[in-house]
Amino acid sequence: MAFFLEKLETILFVVLPYFAFVTLPFVSIARYKRQPRAYMKRASRTIENRRHFLAVVPFHIGIFVVLAGHLLAFFIPGGLLAWNSRPIRLYALEVTGLAFGILTLVGMIGAITRRMGNPKLKSATTTMDWALYALLLVQVILGISVAVFNRWGSSWFATVLTPYLWSLFALRPDTSFITGLPVLTKLHIVNAYLLFLIFPHTRLVHMLVAPFPAIWRKPQAAGWRRPAPQGVAAAPKRLETRA
Ligand code: HEM
Repeated sequence: MAFFLEKLETILFVVLPYFAFVTLPFVSIARYKRQPRAYMKRASRTIENRRHFLAVVPFHIGIFVVLAGHLLAFFIPGGLLAWNSRPIRLYALEVTGLAFGILTLVGMIGAITRRMGNPKLKSATTTMDWALYALLLVQVILGISVAVFNRWGSSWFATVLTPYLWSLFALRPDTSFITGLPVLTKLHIVNAYLLFLIFPHTRLVHMLVAPFPAIWRKPQAAGWRRPAPQGVAAAPKRLETRA
């Protein structure tokens, strides 16, 4: 049994993350070549503008702050531990993380119900996109559960998870740091790896090139089909169109 558990741990916390991180750039590039349009964010906000705003804005604000917190623990664990050395600051950080986690969850539920309730959006959503929504929802619920049931995560993230993650980056994987972690935390980590694994197959790939298409696309000129209104410049003679 112990042998089996050890092997399972290696698969989930060593093989899976390497597989996800190594395949991510290759699959993303291959898909960019095959389906460049998938990298253009489909502007679903044109449908039901207000509901889109009420769901997507809280989701983006929430996830941005939560992931910034994760990156802080990863890159400057010492600074985080120094901050947490005063109980009041530790409480403030934990409550902030939890509040933004809940904001993310509220936004996610809004985005998913909006998508499910609108036939146009539903038909534009692929199976992989649904898988992404499901994994993301599970990830956020698991994260909130970790924050609630396995308290003071910001401190033990820095002392236990950060060394494990850096051991992966240093290509000297050491799972001994995480062997004794509660099952909720382990599920949260494994689910994150699954998210990275399916990421290049989903609509989220637009994040990889988000602001750039606008920079490198050919110049476009806009003109009037009918005679231009008085005082407004007429259409240029030769319009350059997008390739
Ligand atoms: C796609 C990736 C991830 C997402 C969307 C995500 C999301 C969340 C959310 C919403 C929370 C609750 C809010 C909070 O307390 O900050 C949370 C907490 C947490 N996450 Fe993640 N997470 C991700 C990846 C990871 C990874 C890779 C690890 C560790 C290897 C991790 C470790 C933790 C820990 C320890 C907490 C508890 C923090 C606390 O109690 O202060 N997460 N996560």
